Formats: sequence, structure tokens, C-alpha cells
Amino acid sequence: MKTTFLFLIIGLLISTEAVATVSPVKDEQTEKKIEELISKMTLDEKLGQMAQFDPYQFGGDEQTKQAIKEGKVGSILNLVGAKRINELQRIAVEESRLGIPIIIGRDVIHGYRTITPIPLGMAASWNAELTSKAMAVAAEEAASEGVHWTFAPMIDVSRDPRWGRIAESCGEDTYLSTVMAKAMVQGFQGDDLSDPKTIAACAKHYVGYGAAEGGRDYNTTYIPENQLRNDYLPPFKAAADAGVATFMSGFNDLNGVPVTGNEFTLKTILREEWGFDGMVVSDWASIAEMIAHGYAKDTKEAGYKALRAGVDMEMVSRCYLDNVQELLDEGKIEMATIDKYVGNILRVKFRLGLFDHPYTDETLAEKTILSEKNKAIAKEAASESFVLLQNKNEILPLSKDINSVAVIGPLADAPHDQMGTWVFDGKKENTVTPYTALTELLGAGKVNFAEGLATSRTKNTDGFEAAIQAAEKSDAVLLFLGEESILSGEAHSLADLNFRGAQSQLLDAMVETGKPIVLVIMAGRQLTIEDALYKADAILYAWAPGTMGGPALAEMIFGETVPSGKLPVTFPKTVGQIPIYYNHKNTGRPADYSNWTHIDEIPVEAGQTSLGNTSHYLDAGFEPLFPFGYGLSYTTFEYSDLKLSSKTMEADGSIEVSVTLKNTGKYEGSEVVQLYIRDRFASLTRPVKQLKGYKKVNVKPGETKQVTLMLSAKDLEFFNGTDYVIEPGDFDIWVGTNSKDGLHNEFSIN
Ligand code: GLC
Repeated sequence: MKTTFLFLIIGLLISTEAVATVSPVKDEQTEKKIEELISKMTLDEKLGQMAQFDPYQFGGDEQTKQAIKEGKVGSILNLVGAKRINELQRIAVEESRLGIPIIIGRDVIHGYRTITPIPLGMAASWNAELTSKAMAVAAEEAASEGVHWTFAPMIDVSRDPRWGRIAESCGEDTYLSTVMAKAMVQGFQGDDLSDPKTIAACAKHYVGYGAAEGGRDYNTTYIPENQLRNDYLPPFKAAADAGVATFMSGFNDLNGVPVTGNEFTLKTILREEWGFDGMVVSDWASIAEMIAHGYAKDTKEAGYKALRAGVDMEMVSRCYLDNVQELLDEGKIEMATIDKYVGNILRVKFRLGLFDHPYTDETLAEKTILSEKNKAIAKEAASESFVLLQNKNEILPLSKDINSVAVIGPLADAPHDQMGTWVFDGKKENTVTPYTALTELLGAGKVNFAEGLATSRTKNTDGFEAAIQAAEKSDAVLLFLGEESILSGEAHSLADLNFRGAQSQLLDAMVETGKPIVLVIMAGRQLTIEDALYKADAILYAWAPGTMGGPALAEMIFGETVPSGKLPVTFPKTVGQIPIYYNHKNTGRPADYSNWTHIDEIPVEAGQTSLGNTSHYLDAGFEPLFPFGYGLSYTTFEYSDLKLSSKTMEADGSIEVSVTLKNTGKYEGSEVVQLYIRDRFASLTRPVKQLKGYKKVNVKPGETKQVTLMLSAKDLEFFNGTDYVIEPGDFDIWVGTNSKDGLHNEFSIN
């Protein structure tokens, strides 16, 4: 029997709906213009559109201008500056035969000059709207300097912190990455891609790059189709549905076929299933790299396989430029294919409005870059990215009446590293560090600064004495540890995630002083910090907070703001536990504390099967240090009264999930109310938990709020190896403060 539910939505709208989606529609007039233009183009001009150059490749200014004049340059990356770009654009538009404008691409990943937290930090805010605002700041500043297109968002689901590019990702969860993908695309592109304050976004690295074996960058990925569709593709689908203008094919070998030459992902899924009509650009030389992969014997075969798969534009390598004529002559490819790809490129340029307004207003940059508005958004983003992991005896927030604080550590005054990885245009002189901000907040007389270590990697402890002295004359120690920005990002994988250099020794030296310790960790990934839990009183995880990270930290440490961040990744106890993520499968022998004995407690000559044959590590158990979704506040929240509008729903139905949330502490704060489900039995094994919704809710001390989320059967659809299905069955549902702790209920799909 079909049951319809009439229910009143008494809570707040799901934050994911607050971010509008703009899916471009094909404009008849534009398509006609594209067709006319292509009909006039020579092969050289077509191949020019399909080529993206780095400025150094031209060999000099005259050669650059000549190539543009001959219509051989469709795109340039890594060029910034409105004046210079206008100069080259004028040649393209006014001197070349067909006047096709150039599209300028740049890695504007988390800010242009005003640097916002790394994407992993933005994901820790769980705030889609704020993330969108942060990306809009990046877009506006980049556009004011002539950039038309960013190679972002990077939406590779990442479950391995050894992989340096986890810093650029939105973490381990498909749903959160999907929400962030939509928000980031909307932020970069706005509601009108032709608006001079917006830039084209690029969903990358399509697809599965984050599954690199061993967390070693560029390494092989093996992802069965059901996992590809259930775990790795959804954020890209969300980007496509949000109208992302471009995609970037990645470096990785996916099941034996490099994704830059992969017809299944690029053609079957992206074009045929999703109907994407934007442009696909390769990653840096990833077409030519198919030779190294052993998938092409030379640049001609590499070019052919990329064309066959559907890569429209080649980034910096020349497989297309050097071989398409021959491939056409041999009938290996048809001109219609070339025309289709050129059409995709021109469509993005039309949508950007480059034909109508190819030039950048050169007065914009000075009004836009590092504006107070932009810095305020950057500070808000940094503040909401911080995750409070520990706060023994509620040592935080500190009182401004404190006599003095010691500001210690290699990241206390590290303006370059505070910006994080993938920053090309941010300048360290614009960074406000915690040392600077704390001095401004408290007055120089209250701050005793000693870095203790010159960098996060040095083993030189000469600075310890000054640090100890600073601590001894202070009431509390604010210790800033972590990793330099160069240790995360592309090609920067790590096999050891412990504090480097003499950082642990510095922490020990601070413990020796007997002063309370507030440990702030800046890093591009989750580090293995278990030891610090026993030594520091409070731990605030700050990721790489960007230009305004200092003021954001100072204000939070002294209670002007309250932590609200939640972990977008699982924290392992040791590297040996990796991969470890919350939405894992149960296995046939899941572990629990009834059948696990720590290696130190195993009796000598213990019986062979006496330890319980379950899935765990003898020396590291089966649980992480901190679970996905974890984060404390200065206040406390109480969950009660989890209610479902019905215990059953039809395959086309939905239920309303409501919970009462009370602020039982003394600070106003925001809580991310998280909704997880488990499909108990299905045609494929399903994860023990999956995030399916959340709401970030602000609650005053003593206030109680009813928080409502909708859950539809469609949210429970999965790919079972042959089809996307919504299967009848029994489900668990949890609503709570992280992926481990929550109120439980259950429901069924009929
Ligand atoms: C790099 C990265 C990619 C980036 C591109 C252009 O190798 O993989 O994320 O956008 O090249 O810099």
C-alpha cells in the first residue's frame, strides 16, 4: 500500500539545500555561433584550442605573441596579472584570424591572495554556505587579476593521510565531499558564469585518484565498479549537477586503464550517463604519461587513446599537436570528433562571456584583493575549520585577565606554512600569525614568545632553553606544532605521521615546566598524535588556516569564538592502522572489546585461539584515535528524543527525522548534528555506517532546539554491481555528535 506522509517541517532546512545549483543549459544561439566558428577554423586553429600551454613553453615574449596571433593558443595556465593577460588577450581577439579569446587557468584551490583554510579544513567546518563564500572570495580576487578558470574543487575522496593531497580534499566521506563539491562549484561560478567576479571551476581529479595504493601519490588504483560508483563518483556527479564548467582527468591508473584514457569514466559515465557538455582538460602531461603507464607506446598512441576517451584539451604535453594530423590521415579519428571537442572548449568560453567581454578591468584588483570583507570571510572560515580534540578540565577558553602566556613552537609565527599547500599567489607578508594576533589581542607585555624550534623538521634544540624560560615566566603555554606546508600536497606522501624533528621533545620540555599546555596543531593532514593527548591539556586542530588563521586562533583561545569544527577524516592511532575510516564494512568477524586484548596484556604462552579471532591489531586494536565527525565545543550538548515520522517508508518515500538538542553548557555554540544509517542486509555488503545528512545548529546556553532532517529512500540507493537499487530491508539510524556516538533508532523500506 502506498503511504504518503503529510508532515510539517518544524526544523531548519537542510544546509545542503541552501546552496543553489546552476546546471548550464545548451543555448541555441551559442550553439549556432560555435558551429559557425568551427566551420571556419583550420586544423591548426582547432588544435590550438585543444592545447593548454605553460608560459615557459613559448620560448619568449615574441614567440608567445606570434603563436597567439596565429590562432595556435586556446589556453594558458600559470599566468596572472590583468595587464599582461589583457595584452595577450588583445592579440588573440583583435589580431588573430578568428579572434577566439584565450582562457587563462590557475590553481586557485583555497584562495588567491586572501588564503582561506585548505579544503580539508573547510570540510571540517561542515558549513556549505561559508565554504561557498570562501570560494567566491577566491574567484573574485583571481578574476580581478585576469584568471578565468580555476583547477578546483579537488573532490577526490581520500581515506589515506599518507597521501599528501588529502590536504586538498574534502576528506574521507562521500556525502560530505558531495556537499562540499556543490558548495565550492557554486562559490567559484556563482549564479552567472559570465559575471566578471566569477570563474569557471574544474572538478578534479576525475576519478579515484585518492585511492592511490599505500597513499603514495600517482600510485595505482584498483576500484571495483560498485565502489567507484558508491564512494568515488558521487562528488563528481554533484559537481556536474551543480553546473561545473570543466572536469580534469587525473594521473592514476584505474583498474589497468589510466583515467586520462578511460572511455568508461570519461565517455560512458561523464558524457552519456550524466550528459556533461562542458570541457575536459587533462592533468599536467597526463596524456603523455600514458606512455610511462605502459598504456601507449608513443605520443601518437597516447593522443589517440585520450581522444578516443574524450579529453578535449591537453595540458602542456603535445600529443595532440604533434599527432592529430596523422591520426586523421590514417582515419584513426574523424574530424567530427575534433570538432566536438573544440565545441566543448568554445562552449565554456561562451558561457564565461569571454567573447563578449574578453578583457579584465585593470582597476579591480586593488579594490578587491585582501579587502576587509575578504579577510573577514577568511577569518570566519578559519574559525569554523578548527576542531577541538581535547579540553581537560575545560582549560579553554583562557581568560584575557591571564598575567601572561608563552607562545612557543615552530608554527607560532610561520606565515608561509600557515597558508598550507597549493598556494601560488598568496604572500606570506599578508599572513597574520598566532604570535602577531595574540600580541595584538593581549598586548606585548603579556606574550612571552620563543619558537623553540626553527622549523617543524629541525632536530636542533638550541632554542629549547629560551622556550623553557618563556614558559616558566608565563601562566600557560600556547604550543604551536605540526608540519610545514611543503610536507603535504602533490607528490608529498609520508610514511610516518608522527611529529617530525624535535617537536615531541619540545612538548616534553613544556610538560616539564608544569604549566598548563594548549597545543595547536597546524598540518595538511591528520597526524598520529596519541602521545600528545597525555601531555597537553587542550588540543585544537587548525589544519592550515590561511591568511587570517592567527586572529581566528587568538579569538578562539580566549573565548571570543567557540569551536564548532568536526573531523572530516578519521584519526589513526598509528600509521599501521591505515586505511582506517568510519564507513568500513563489518567483515564476518568484527572486533569489540569483549574479544580484544592489548598485546601488552597477552598472557605468556597464550593459547593459539585464546585472543578471539576477530578483525583487529594486537598492538593497535580496532578503533581510531578520533572518529570521523568528532569535535568538541566549549559548551556541551545533550541529544534526546530521536523521533521518526514513520518506521517504514516506500521506495519512493521519505521520513522526517527529528531530535531535541539542548545546550547544557555555559557558552553559545554550534553543533553539527549528524545523521547516519546502516543498511543491515543487502545484495552487497554495506558499510557499518554512512553519513546521510547533517545540520549545523547554533544554540544558546540553556536553549533547546528541535532539529529536523529529511531522509528519503532515494538517499539509500546504491549501485549493486549492475544497477542503482533501493532495496527493501531493515536499517539502523543514528543521530548524534559524531560517527561513533549517537541516539539510535531503526526503520524499514517496504
Ligand atoms: C598538477 C596537479 C593538478 C593541477 C595541475 C595544474 O600536477 O595534479 O591538480 O591543477 O597540475 O597545476
